[in-house]
Amino acid sequence: MGNDKFKRYTVTAALPYTNGPVHIGHLAGVYIPADIYVRFLRSTGKDVVFVCGSDEHGVPITLKAKKEGVSPQEVVDKYHKIIGDSFRDFGIAFNIYHRTSSETHHDTASGFFKTLYDKGVFKEEETEQYFDEKAGAFLADRYIIGTCPKCSNEEAYGDQCEKCGSTLSPTELINPRSTLSGAQPVLRTTKNWFLPLDTMQPQIEAYIDAHKDWKPNVYGQCKSWLSGGLNPRAMTRDLDWGVKVPVEGADGKVLYVWFDAPIGYISGTKDLCDANLSEEKKKEYYFNESLKPKDSWETYWYAEDTKLVHFIGKDNIVFHCIIFPAMLMAHGSFQLADNVPANEFLNLEGDKISTSRNWAVWLHEYLQDFPDKQDVLRYVLTATAPETKDNDFTWKDFQARNNNELVAIFGNFVNRVLVLSHKYFDGKVMMGSAFTETDLQVMAELKEYPSKIAASIEQYRFREALSEFMSLARMGNKYLADEEPWKLIKTDEERVKTILNIGLQIASNLAILAQPFLPFSAQKLFDMLNMDVQDWDKAGTLDLLPLGHQLNEASLLFEKIEDAEIEAQIQRLMDSKKSNEQASMKVEEAKPNVSFEQFSSMDIRIGTILEAEKVAKTKKLLKLKIDTGIDQRTIVSGIAEYFEPEQIIGKQVSVLINLEPREIKGILSQGMILMAENPDGTLSFVAPESVFVNGSTVR
Ligand code: 2FM
Ligand code: ZN
Repeated sequence: MGNDKFKRYTVTAALPYTNGPVHIGHLAGVYIPADIYVRFLRSTGKDVVFVCGSDEHGVPITLKAKKEGVSPQEVVDKYHKIIGDSFRDFGIAFNIYHRTSSETHHDTASGFFKTLYDKGVFKEEETEQYFDEKAGAFLADRYIIGTCPKCSNEEAYGDQCEKCGSTLSPTELINPRSTLSGAQPVLRTTKNWFLPLDTMQPQIEAYIDAHKDWKPNVYGQCKSWLSGGLNPRAMTRDLDWGVKVPVEGADGKVLYVWFDAPIGYISGTKDLCDANLSEEKKKEYYFNESLKPKDSWETYWYAEDTKLVHFIGKDNIVFHCIIFPAMLMAHGSFQLADNVPANEFLNLEGDKISTSRNWAVWLHEYLQDFPDKQDVLRYVLTATAPETKDNDFTWKDFQARNNNELVAIFGNFVNRVLVLSHKYFDGKVMMGSAFTETDLQVMAELKEYPSKIAASIEQYRFREALSEFMSLARMGNKYLADEEPWKLIKTDEERVKTILNIGLQIASNLAILAQPFLPFSAQKLFDMLNMDVQDWDKAGTLDLLPLGHQLNEASLLFEKIEDAEIEAQIQRLMDSKKSNEQASMKVEEAKPNVSFEQFSSMDIRIGTILEAEKVAKTKKLLKLKIDTGIDQRTIVSGIAEYFEPEQIIGKQVSVLINLEPREIKGILSQGMILMAENPDGTLSFVAPESVFVNGSTVR
């Protein structure tokens, strides 16, 4: 199976920035596919290390710290915990979830840089960089925003335009401004160390050309970078948060976050393979103590028979396919990635997922609302994974896939076969009359599934693999529906024994094959079938459950999700959209102060609208008759575009009654109705919460 050249696997999943929790986009794009791949490999007995961790350096972290008024360390400590817990809760089976603020990482990254420095790899160069004179700092990467030269997005970052996806450098931005102070930055000279990607281009090109088997989106992006001609890229930054540059004359400089982050895969592997790591650190980093690596960290990174695979999102392609391999080549000894299966992006309800706009389904929040439904989300995100193009997650689709696929097909099949076995044969595995043509055909088909699913997984086609898996469940469901054991039991018990035997064997096969995709349900199914967890190579056979084997009680694998639960999720998103829109609206500037006397000279009363009608030949004006508690008077108000006259009759309002009367369109208006105006222009009366006596004062 697979490529026999390889004896072991080093699988990495992109280290998430530790400036916020993780959402469904992260899970769908990187962590679920990686987890399926690794769980599958482990189930085939392969030696795998699965490494991830927190990316704790870089400007996104320091910006978040500034925004929250805390230290960068506090930010990373907080989110390292939240993110790690989310991954654990969703069953992402890392060997280690490490962190780049660890000592091992600082030593490894700094040692790596020093090796390249000593080998004379870097070009040391003085260049002009933007500097914020107000904040007294150089403006690397996300410390600077401006207009994207490629798509005119006015909010492009110094390292990347999120609108068109272009990778940028700060000096390319049009009309740059500092995100620290808003100031217009000036250019200042500073020294940095550059990786000469230009002179390394032939080697890099040869590497990429040897990997035409990569996904077209990945290979294509690499080729387009190469065809543009690579430029030297600074591997150091004038910042104070990060790994210090370990050479003389580099005070106040740290390693570029994209230099240090991928080295995080190596430092994570080091701590994973370090038998002397403190118990405290093991507890923090290791996901599952029983997943012990078989070899040294060097073997997982240097050996030619180790297959290195990076799972990432599409915005990370250039860093993993060009820059990191170039670093590894320049260093020597290391193996380069055999594959970099990057996914495209997942959208949410037709809109781009956005942390700042809170347009996301956060994993920790999902689990509060759907505890024990990890597999449902895993299933939906795999079935709709953005493998070849951006894709959309909608709550309606989530509900439909749960109810019509997991519940109605997989869950229903397993439940029927177990419940009937209990009902007819006290939960014992039986065998009756000889196999029929249909039985033989079902068994022949079953045999094909493990290798079909395996082939899809090995080619990183996880949607296809999952759909094959569901076809098997569908086949089981159809078999039962066609054979109708519930009818036959009255006339041919021996036949029913055989049908249920086959059904149970399919169910136990499903338990094995579900493991990579739906680990929680697979375990539950193994428990119901009262069988030990089995490896992949056991699948495809019909002797998984021996005659006389006692099954455990049946319970539902999946439960229907009701409309109300889905509506609540949609409402939550709508609320977040609304509060975003409101937050992004500018409120009017404050007016100059008034004296208390000036304020109290205004006589504001609660009144009731008695009559309302449009003022002829105007669009905006309503003529109102108001009971002010003192008198009944006419007021002309410019609210006709917002309210229908008949809807407001009887409503209470606040009225400024001592405003100088004035004539409007020939009508004498005696006062003014107070209105609250949203920045978007929508209006509301200013009224008491319950009915007040007309004439009550407002002060
Ligand atoms: O895009 C991101 O979230 C980065 N923190 C990914 C880093 S991957 C690796 F290189 F560490
Ligand atoms: Zn752009």
